[in-house]
Amino acid sequence: MPDASTPLLEIKGLRHYYRQPGGTRQRALKLDRLTALGGESLVVSGPSGSGKTTLLHILAALIRPTEGEVVFDGQNLNDLGASAPAWRAESLGYVFQDMNLLPDFNVLENLMIAAEISNMPRGAALERAAFLLERLGLVSRKKSRPYKLSLGEQQRTAVARAILHSPRLVLADEPTASLDAENSGAVMRLLSELCGESRSLLIVATHDESVKKRFSRLVVLEKAENGPSGGIAL
Ligand SMILES: Nc1ncnc2c1ncn2[C@@H]1O[C@H](COP(=O)(O)OP(=O)(O)OP(=O)(O)O)[C@@H](O)[C@H]1O
Ligand SMILES: [Mg+2]
Repeated sequence: MPDASTPLLEIKGLRHYYRQPGGTRQRALKLDRLTALGGESLVVSGPSGSGKTTLLHILAALIRPTEGEVVFDGQNLNDLGASAPAWRAESLGYVFQDMNLLPDFNVLENLMIAAEISNMPRGAALERAAFLLERLGLVSRKKSRPYKLSLGEQQRTAVARAILHSPRLVLADEPTASLDAENSGAVMRLLSELCGESRSLLIVATHDESVKKRFSRLVVLEKAENGPSGGIAL
């Protein structure tokens, strides 16, 4: 059983390159080392194009890094292969900038569909959904379809959906980009609180200064220069 000081996440020597039209490859991400514990929250910032979304995609095992490795809870993500979807269903919650709620289903149904994907027993899912809807101020909106919700309500629904199955890793990519200051503050406060309570690791990519101020740990990515250290001619 890992003790509380064993890192939940360990990143080593991470590099990712994308091939550009014409054959050169451009470095999209460079992160030498990062470790984090369960229950921690950290923010990833850096200029546009510095690789924030690429990092989250690697952490979600959606893309395999060109170099380096990510070990999460003892699992090297490079080794997941065909079991990546099952790993995501169990261990990962993802909050997107544009929410990605299912338009033909109401708030509760959006949550219950996510619960099914994560193989949660229906009773436990309903109980957890009721708890989260209460905490996120959505009880009166649970029968509403997304188009009837304010942006803040939509993003709080997306938060509930992402953390319904109490995943150990919660990733959020610019989760406040479509929100005003008040809603942005509320979404971030609730997301941090709920992740802390379930000892999940929360990693938020953002440009938003007011969001950055809420976090004690900040990871700043640098954008690759066009040249030998960044773009590489093949
Ligand atoms: N699928 C892809 N194919 C080719 N290049 C890509 C791809 N995805 C990202 N890139 C490039 O990789 C670099 C990093 O992109 P990424 O989206 O990770 O940056 P970001 O820090 O999230 O930027 P933003 O703040 O604008 O969201 C950019 O130069 C981008 O153009
Ligand atoms: Mg991005």
